[in-house]
Amino acid sequence: MSIFVNEQNGTFHLQNHFVSYIMAVLPNGHIGQLYFGKKIRDREDFSYLLEGCIRSHSALTGSDTRRLSLEHVRQEYPFAGGTDYRQGAVRIMQENGSCLTDFVFRRYALTGGKPVLEGLPATYTEDDGEAETLHLYLEDEKAHMELELLYTIFRDEAVIARSARVRYTGSGSVRIEKMMSLNLDLPDDRYDWIQFSGSWARERYPMTHPLHQGIQSVGSIRGNSSHQHNPFVILKRPDATENAGEALGFSLLYSGNFLIQAETDTYGVTRMQAGIHPEYFAWKLEEGESFQTPEAVLAWSEEGMNGLSQTLHRLYQRRLCRGEWREKARPILINNWEATFFDFNEEKLLQIARKAASAGIEMFVLDDGWFGARRSDNAGLGDWYPAQEILPEGIKGLSEKIEAMGLKFGLWIEPEMVNPDSDLYRAHPDWILRVPDRQASLSRNQYVLDFSRPEVVDHIHAMIADILRNASISYIKWDMNRSISECYSAVLPADRQGEVYHRYILGVYDLYERLIGEFPHILFESCAGGGGRFDADMLYYAPQAWASDDTDAAERMKIQYGTSYGYPISSIGSHVSAVPNDQVGRITPLKTRAEVAYFGTYGYELDLNLLSDEEFEAVKTYTDFMKEHRELLQFGTFYRLRSPFEENEMAWMVVSKDKKEAIAGLYRTLNVPNESFSRLYLTGLDPDLSYEVEGYGRHFGDELMNVGIVTSTVMSGKQNGSVCRAADFTSELFIVHAG
Ligand code: DGJ
Repeated sequence: MSIFVNEQNGTFHLQNHFVSYIMAVLPNGHIGQLYFGKKIRDREDFSYLLEGCIRSHSALTGSDTRRLSLEHVRQEYPFAGGTDYRQGAVRIMQENGSCLTDFVFRRYALTGGKPVLEGLPATYTEDDGEAETLHLYLEDEKAHMELELLYTIFRDEAVIARSARVRYTGSGSVRIEKMMSLNLDLPDDRYDWIQFSGSWARERYPMTHPLHQGIQSVGSIRGNSSHQHNPFVILKRPDATENAGEALGFSLLYSGNFLIQAETDTYGVTRMQAGIHPEYFAWKLEEGESFQTPEAVLAWSEEGMNGLSQTLHRLYQRRLCRGEWREKARPILINNWEATFFDFNEEKLLQIARKAASAGIEMFVLDDGWFGARRSDNAGLGDWYPAQEILPEGIKGLSEKIEAMGLKFGLWIEPEMVNPDSDLYRAHPDWILRVPDRQASLSRNQYVLDFSRPEVVDHIHAMIADILRNASISYIKWDMNRSISECYSAVLPADRQGEVYHRYILGVYDLYERLIGEFPHILFESCAGGGGRFDADMLYYAPQAWASDDTDAAERMKIQYGTSYGYPISSIGSHVSAVPNDQVGRITPLKTRAEVAYFGTYGYELDLNLLSDEEFEAVKTYTDFMKEHRELLQFGTFYRLRSPFEENEMAWMVVSKDKKEAIAGLYRTLNVPNESFSRLYLTGLDPDLSYEVEGYGRHFGDELMNVGIVTSTVMSGKQNGSVCRAADFTSELFIVHAG
């Protein structure tokens, strides 16, 4: 990894084993984007890549820079209001009412490693040799502002981390109206855009379409990253597949309102941007103040989308997740939510836990309904003390009883919210987000607390920390069950109300940071009404996230498959639940439910006392299987093999780093009468190694990858000569060992 700087011609070339990222100072002092893609060798001068040309009707910037029409130049961080008629990366309203800025290059600095972004989640390094950072400093003298563009190139990954910071040095104030974390002008538009979208209970479906002239975007203005769209987008070459071809990933480390967009101009140039959504955003800067954007991660692969996903999986597992749980296999838990919903008392919980302990499960998680007057979703939210009538000896008493069974104990919280029927709301009705003299909307019978106010965060922190200090708690599920509306803070002046959404999420980050700082052994799982906050930044605090409230195995195949594009398997919260499924009423085999959930953190969300003896024995077997293989399943190299969005059969697999172990899962949605022959082609194995595939004999890696496993009989229920009943929603695992 190196950053080459040619001071004579103002060229910067970030290069590692995989990629090159090249920029140059333009004749007008702005920074031009010259190249991003597969590594190329460095050379003295890349100016031939500056394709600035003058066309009919071109507007030229400045009298002394006649060669330059910004509209026709690929730029690094374009400014609003000039001769670039595409969308700018930054728009800052100055006191004279103008948004025109003209930041010109002043100097640069190189630092080893990666700087911390204060108060914000970000990828990190553990020693300075792992990455190098280029800081470009620009200035707009007339507007009294300095801009710093940060680029970190990692030594071992095809990744560049980006962010920007602006500082105001004048008197009075300016107002930032838009400030993107990343802008990347690509020289052509021959890409398919893949977004990960959906809704509650069907999150992160991959949706693909070719880029076209104009703007295409995904975003959220809900205050969370949302069930609807994910802050992650892929651009892939049209011929790129899962295993070959060029793909670029744009991942924003931010849980608030976000925007990722591609603007394809009239000459086929594609401008990608990712950052805080400018809608509802305005940030006032007074003299000496600065604003730092969240981080955006730009990843690249020439090994298709599996290659791209594997890069992000490794980076996020090793250099975004932190703490004790970073690369540790996850405990197998049982959560009482779908087993009881709000209808439980301590004895019922203990019964579930007792049975779980006898199945080899490792942790019991108490979900919603344990505190205050919370006997339904109508009351009690915000009152973080145990309900006496449910837990006579409190959380401490319950956790001790659970631990005496040999289980760890985990707890659900929803710290950002309050029911109007709660002691907290009665004491502090002004602590919610609400526009004065207007009604605040309820959603799931709750209001959103104003986490932009430090005293609100302090109060919630005190309550939650008190519980964590006084009971033995090994896991926290942090939920957020509604989107933000009427976003207004009672304590900020009118000209700072545009800051509330961002200040809110900074408050969330702050509370997380304080809790993980004091309780580093606790495993956090983030959640927002299922998968409404499944984003990269959360992994900085909570290394796993509840993927969806939809626990049906057939739906989960899609949700987990889509999630795997941007996020590691170790982060995907997955449980085996009861049938008929609570969300879709579907009945799927227990085996399939387990075999889908294996490709995630794995747990249970049902009352095991209600299973037949045979089913309970199966649960024990599944639990043992997961214990034996979870390192491989959660931290192995993951490959998508067949898409549930394209076929009736879905397949994925994991391979150990040394390629000696692998597990492939093959899943069928509907059974097929008189079906065609079929094969499952494995990938990622060593072609020269001889592997034993349990129940399928010995084969070399090249055979398993090129000839494939004959699966026609497996999925129709005829295996090894024995005929079993074929059914819908069946699955089969292939356990592969070398030697
Ligand atoms: C939504 C979560 O996704 C569920 O798992 C459960 O925790 C409920 N909230 C509780 O209110």
